[in-house]
Amino acid sequence: AQKLIKKLEETIENIPDFPIPGIQFKDISPIFLNPGLYEEVIADLVNFSKGKVDAVCGIESRGYLFGIAIAVALEVPFILIRKAGKLPPPVISEKYDLEYGSAIIETREGQIKPGERILIHDDLLATGGTTEAAAKLVEKQGATVAQFSFLIGLKDLNGKEKLDKFNAEVYHILEY
Ligand code: PRP
Ligand code: MG
Repeated sequence: AQKLIKKLEETIENIPDFPIPGIQFKDISPIFLNPGLYEEVIADLVNFSKGKVDAVCGIESRGYLFGIAIAVALEVPFILIRKAGKLPPPVISEKYDLEYGSAIIETREGQIKPGERILIHDDLLATGGTTEAAAKLVEKQGATVAQFSFLIGLKDLNGKEKLDKFNAEVYHILEY
């Protein structure tokens, strides 16, 4: 895994002061220029979840880039969690706070089944607000969050603390 971390560190671009001053933006798009590296990332994330989940929930939009491939490799369903107003009814919604203001995410009602062990996947754990809202959606459907996985965790923002209450395994390949 140390080799994969090193390759990713060399590949992910850091863009200072984007999209606003003070933010160090991590651009993952160069990973998709390298199919072999993409496959290694998927294999690593699949290894974390193999045999442990009944379905994968991915968070729009960057959570889809790896989430679907993880679900296909695990041979389990993939469920879209989308920003508000994109999915047709009936939907389940959850509001969460952003640095400024708030946002809503939604999932189609009934796609997450009661009792299922769910993997919530996203590219990045920052403040944890988005992921926490996704986990609440999962619980509203009577399912359990078994695991969270991310490509990147930002350690200074303490996102992990927001996920503690779900008693799930948390994994990220690399940390900044
Ligand atoms: C980014 C990132 C995570 C979320 C993390 O998504 O892809 O989903 O923010 O932030 P948090 O831990 O502070 O909630 P963004 O909303 O920028 O949208 P995108 O995935 O569509 O690019
Ligand atoms: Mg996102």
